[in-house]
Amino acid sequence: MKRTHTCGDLTEKEIGKEVLLQGWVSTRRDHGGVIFVDLRDRYGLTQVVFNPDIKDFPKAEKLRREDVIEIRGNVRNRPKNMENPKMKTGMIEVLVKNLEILNKAETPPLEVDDRVVAADEVRLKYRYLDLRRPIMQKLLQSRFAAAMAARQFLQSQGFIEIETPMLVRSTPEGARDYIVPSRVHPGKFYALPQSPQLYKQICMVAGLDKYFQFARCLRDEDLRMDRQPEHTQIDVEMSFVRPEDVFQVVEGIMKSIWETKGIKLQTPFPRIPYDAAMEKYGSDKPDLRYDLFLHDVTDIVKDSDFEVFKNVIKNGGIVKCINPEADFSRNEVDDLISFSQQQGSKGMAWMKITGKGLEGSIIKYFPSEIQKKLLEKTKAKKGYLFFIADSMKNTNAILDKLRRELARRLKLIQANDFQFCWITEFPLFEWNEEEEKWDPCHHMFCMPLEEDLKHLEDDPGKVKCTQYDIVLNGVELGSGSIRINRPDIQERVMKVIGLTHKDVERKFGFLIEAFKYGAPPHGGIGLGFDRVVTLLNGLEDIREVIAFPKNKAAECPMDQSPSEVEEKQLKELHLKLDVGKKK
Ligand code: AMO
Repeated sequence: MKRTHTCGDLTEKEIGKEVLLQGWVSTRRDHGGVIFVDLRDRYGLTQVVFNPDIKDFPKAEKLRREDVIEIRGNVRNRPKNMENPKMKTGMIEVLVKNLEILNKAETPPLEVDDRVVAADEVRLKYRYLDLRRPIMQKLLQSRFAAAMAARQFLQSQGFIEIETPMLVRSTPEGARDYIVPSRVHPGKFYALPQSPQLYKQICMVAGLDKYFQFARCLRDEDLRMDRQPEHTQIDVEMSFVRPEDVFQVVEGIMKSIWETKGIKLQTPFPRIPYDAAMEKYGSDKPDLRYDLFLHDVTDIVKDSDFEVFKNVIKNGGIVKCINPEADFSRNEVDDLISFSQQQGSKGMAWMKITGKGLEGSIIKYFPSEIQKKLLEKTKAKKGYLFFIADSMKNTNAILDKLRRELARRLKLIQANDFQFCWITEFPLFEWNEEEEKWDPCHHMFCMPLEEDLKHLEDDPGKVKCTQYDIVLNGVELGSGSIRINRPDIQERVMKVIGLTHKDVERKFGFLIEAFKYGAPPHGGIGLGFDRVVTLLNGLEDIREVIAFPKNKAAECPMDQSPSEVEEKQLKELHLKLDVGKKK
């Protein structure tokens, strides 16, 4: 390398040495004829000094932010009081002898500075400038360190990484497929994989025993902070395993990833059955960093005189409450009621806990015996009881949001608190209201619990399965299951979700065929790697840890994809467009 050091290397040890540095002009300051430049690269910043007596001084006077330059000079101590002991290079500077400008930069449309964050679209359009910011460089390094740690751990456990194809038959993960037309087979299409699900199961039939892959997964779905059209999973599959075996491997992966930040995770993570999570937190992604448990008080309040609750219960709904131990003002309570309404509630009843018992405008409908039972059940000592009465699904969904909001407002969340858990025994199916049919809760390859097999046909909603999710701080990091490896059970499950023999043959015939030739019992998981790295770094938006993410409209403002293609390409692919004109 021509450069003798990076911009993060030099310390007092190099004082007196001649060095050659290359990098970007981060800042340029003119101090009474002497020019100071902070030279930046991935490794850090070095202060370089241009005195007016050097030949290249006129060039230095014209330097601008983000110019790429090369300097040769000697390392010396910074003058007294100008040291910065917080920086590795903060005790020295380089007195320049020669300056060469390697590339001039136009005025950057965004500041390459951690303290100034540009608008999302600008950041994505000029991603190369955004990624120059030290914080973004650190995040990409953290992602790489996490990937290396996971790979090393998996290798140490006997896993092998296997690449599966990107051009596949549709995979069933519930989103829309991105499809790719075939040139050589007119009218036929590949799908881009939503996950390597079927391939990894076939790897088990192939006797590969312990598979993993850093897999790119492509899904055409509505985007949110934690969703991108392409995401990366640490995809794992193992033969002859029970859920516990998968949990131990994943806990090992998480431990090794968190060690990259010097954090020691305690394992095993708590295991919470799905029903218990819904009861206590109203969510299958509970945030365990704070208590704020939910209490089902349907059985207690059904005997009250409060018509709102009684009507909901009569119609098959439930009543649950939450007990924030806070002294809210009337305005704050009203604000929380509006919040619950924005989440879809018809209202939020409340009672205040005082030294004398419960108070509030609805108290008159609750005889003292019922009030006593409410206090006993909730163990509430102070603050408020907030009630939501609705269908079980809505009540839980609203209270889950309210619980998260309360924790935020009451500042119950500590920084650097990582509370993992496993949610187990999910329902196998969920009812699709719109299409009036059963859908698989996760996917159709999850093995039902042995003891529930008898209900498969007569009461599908009752059947629990081996699905498990790993959750961190209220976010689903990954999902997996033990798979069905028996064709008879697979067929029964497919029947419940309304797939005919022909559908199955057409969509998954190759998997069913493979299972005829000796399929070991197997199971695995897909871990959302972008989410893992996001939470590891205390962030919320997965775009911060993806080098080139898409915007919310699934576009890349930098390369302007998706884009039109040449007429010639369409012809070769036997495609004719029928696109309505945009208004
Ligand atoms: P699932 O669809 O639950 O399971 O995905 C597994 C994990 O991947 C992450 N994830 C996403 N991350 C970012 N953007 C997205 N659009 C996105 N979609 C999913 C989540 C999620 O928990 N084949 C199964 C796994 C298995 O059964 O082994 C699967 O893909 O963190």
